[in-house]
Amino acid sequence: MSTPFITFEGIDGAGKSTQVQSLARLFRKMNRDPLVTREPGGSAGAEDIRRLLVAGDQGRWSVETEILLFTAARRDHLERSIQPALKAGRTVISDRFADSTRVYQGAARASTRRVVDRLHSLMIGREPDLTFIIDLDPAIALSRRRVPRADRFENMGLDFQKAVRTGFLALAEEFPDRCVVVNGDDSPEKVATDVSDVIGERCP
Ligand code: TYD
Repeated sequence: MSTPFITFEGIDGAGKSTQVQSLARLFRKMNRDPLVTREPGGSAGAEDIRRLLVAGDQGRWSVETEILLFTAARRDHLERSIQPALKAGRTVISDRFADSTRVYQGAARASTRRVVDRLHSLMIGREPDLTFIIDLDPAIALSRRRVPRADRFENMGLDFQKAVRTGFLALAEEFPDRCVVVNGDDSPEKVATDVSDVIGERCP
């Protein structure tokens, strides 16, 4: 795996962004210049779409429209940021990618997962080389949040987060070759060590 595309996934507040930053530091220490990015967002157009997704009231978009918006944002992110970076030989580390749509939008109704998958193969057609799923009890994640979020995703509730956690664990079983589950209940340093151990094995 010369220039890997790595993603971090998990419930809200699992500690993804901290781990994205520590992995980026690790790559920089090895004199690699990773592209650190995130979804929704990660390119100018996708950041514009992010604003449509996070602002407004909860019922602003139907699940179907949300899937289209997340996928449109991802297509732009892929075209404008991810693919050029990989082509230039840079490692890409993204805070969320397509697995988030599979789980968050797919968790709404069983039938929506099919829609997500069809749109993904039509418009994205690319999986990460390696995905870290940071697994954590949603009640702990909620208690860790210092600043309550003030956007469309703020009041999804504990039951929804539990369904999302279950969804990510199921996804890890569905894609065992690329998904690695790490225990997000450990200290950030221990999680970072677990992540770097996997990187050492998979991206020597
Ligand atoms: P994110 O920016 O990761 O949240 P945070 O502000 O905590 O860092 O993502 C915003 C929300 O969007 C989050 O609740 C997860 C949700 N989301 C989806 O529902 N589907 C998707 O495809 C993505 C990428 C995110």
